[in-house]
This record gives sequence, structure tokens and C-alpha cells, in this order.
Amino acid sequence: MIVSICLLVFFGCGLNFAQPGDESYVSKTEFDALKEKLENLETKLRDTEIRQINSDSQIAELKNQGKLIIDSETKQKETETRLQHSETRLNNSENRLRKSENQIMDLINKERTKVMFSAAAGGSGNIGPFNTDTTLIYRAVITNIGGAYSQYTGIFTAPVAGVYYFTFYHHAGGEHRAILNLYKNNQFIVRVADHPSNDHADNGGNAAFLQLQQGDQVYVLLAYNSHVWGTGNVTTFSGFLVSQI
Ligand SMILES: *[C@@H]1O[C@H](CO)[C@@H](O)[C@H](O)[C@H]1NC(C)=O
Ligand SMILES: *[C@@H]1O[C@H](CO)[C@@H](O)[C@H](O)[C@H]1NC(C)=O
Repeated sequence: MIVSICLLVFFGCGLNFAQPGDESYVSKTEFDALKEKLENLETKLRDTEIRQINSDSQIAELKNQGKLIIDSETKQKETETRLQHSETRLNNSENRLRKSENQIMDLINKERTKVMFSAAAGGSGNIGPFNTDTTLIYRAVITNIGGAYSQYTGIFTAPVAGVYYFTFYHHAGGEHRAILNLYKNNQFIVRVADHPSNDHADNGGNAAFLQLQQGDQVYVLLAYNSHVWGTGNVTTFSGFLVSQI
């Protein structure tokens, strides 16, 4: 614009003050040609300005789009992070649920495991005396839930680890001693002892809680030179699982 104004002033001066023959004289034809060039230049300049504006706004638009892309990338990352957190929490919940289920199944299985037995010596009359310690076999089974007691060997075998309670009672005449020992595997645990005397008969008993591993064996040894009475279920051996460990 500034250029065109200056040119107009310049040529205007030429028109007003120069005469044909002057050095500065410009003919009408030359003037028209210059004017046309000027107009062309102006048009080009406008075009350039318009293109400049267009490209400016395109750049702005691209920047804006870039910002949007960055914004949406950020949002996507945030979403992914939240998703991961949710997954972790879900995973934790699942793990805890599985653990609880396992614990419940364990408890149910433990609750289902019932072990209890009672058996009487049976037979008729005296059992013993023998000249060595002898496992007392209680042949008359009263109860044997879980089948852990054997009426053929007199031995109880722990089917599961846990705490068990055992009792043994006896009745015996006075002419011999009556010594009974409760054993866990080869380990002596508790005893009941009555010595020979002139009294007619005696009764005795003892009991113990035992912590057993699976497969541990518990039984009553009738000591050598001892006897008990078998008739009438007066001599018994009982036990049960109190709690699994
Ligand atoms: C889900 O839990 C399992 C077992 O604890 C683990 O191995 C795995 O890496 C966890 N996955 C996620 C996504 O936390
Ligand atoms: C002893 O107990 C067994 C098993 O319960 C039973 O069969 C038997 O009749 C009992 N004996 C006596 C004398 O009560």
C-alpha cells in the first residue's frame, strides 16, 4: 500500500508539472502501463497476504489439532493407568476370594473328619497275667467312626494330624497286679497301677490329650504279671479327635 501511494504521488507529480520534452515527462501510454503493473503488484500482494493469513490459520489449526492429539494421548494414558489400578484391585480381590474359599474348604474338610472309637476288652474272665508286656486288644468294638482303631491289633492309628483324647478304664481282681500303660508309638505316656492285695476287686483308669502326627500309633500295654477282667465290658479303651492342627 505504501509503495502504491508513493508511486501515485510520483506519477501524479509527473502529470501535473512535467511537459512533453522534459526529462521527467511520462506519456499517457507509459503511465497506463505502469499503473497496470502497479495494480498487478497490488493484486499479487493481496494474494500473498491472503495466503499468509490462510497459512497462519492452517498453522493455528494444526497446532490446535496437535494439542488435541496430545490431550487425547494424555487422557488415554490416564485411562490406561486407571484400568491397570482396577485390574490390580480386581486381582487382589480374586486372590483374597480364592484364599477364603480354600480356607473354607479346609475348615469344611476338617469339620467332616470325624474320628472316635470305644472298645471293650470282651472275652470272658481274666485277660492275663502274661510274662511279658502285651498289647491289650479290646475286641468288642462299641464305636469306631473313621475306622482308626483296629480290634485285631488293639492299635489306634491317627488318620490326620491333630489333638486327640484317650481314656482307658479297667476292672480287675485283687490276686494280681493291674498295670496298664498308654503308649504313643514307642513312648510311654500315662499309667494306671493297682498292686496285689486281699481286696476283692479294683477299678482304675487314666486319660491323656495327645498331639499326634498322621500315622502315629496309640495303644495300651498290659504290663507283665498284670491282669484285667474282660467280661461285662468293664475294661475299655476310647479316643477321639478333638481338633485338627
Ligand atoms: C495377579 O495375581 C497373580 C497371583 O498373585 C500374579 O501372579 C499376577 O502378576 C497378578 N496380576 C496383576 C495384573 O496384578
Ligand atoms: C459289650 O459291647 C459290645 C459292643 O457294643 C456289645 O456287643 C456287647 O453286647 C457288650 N457286652 C455286654 C456284656 O454288655
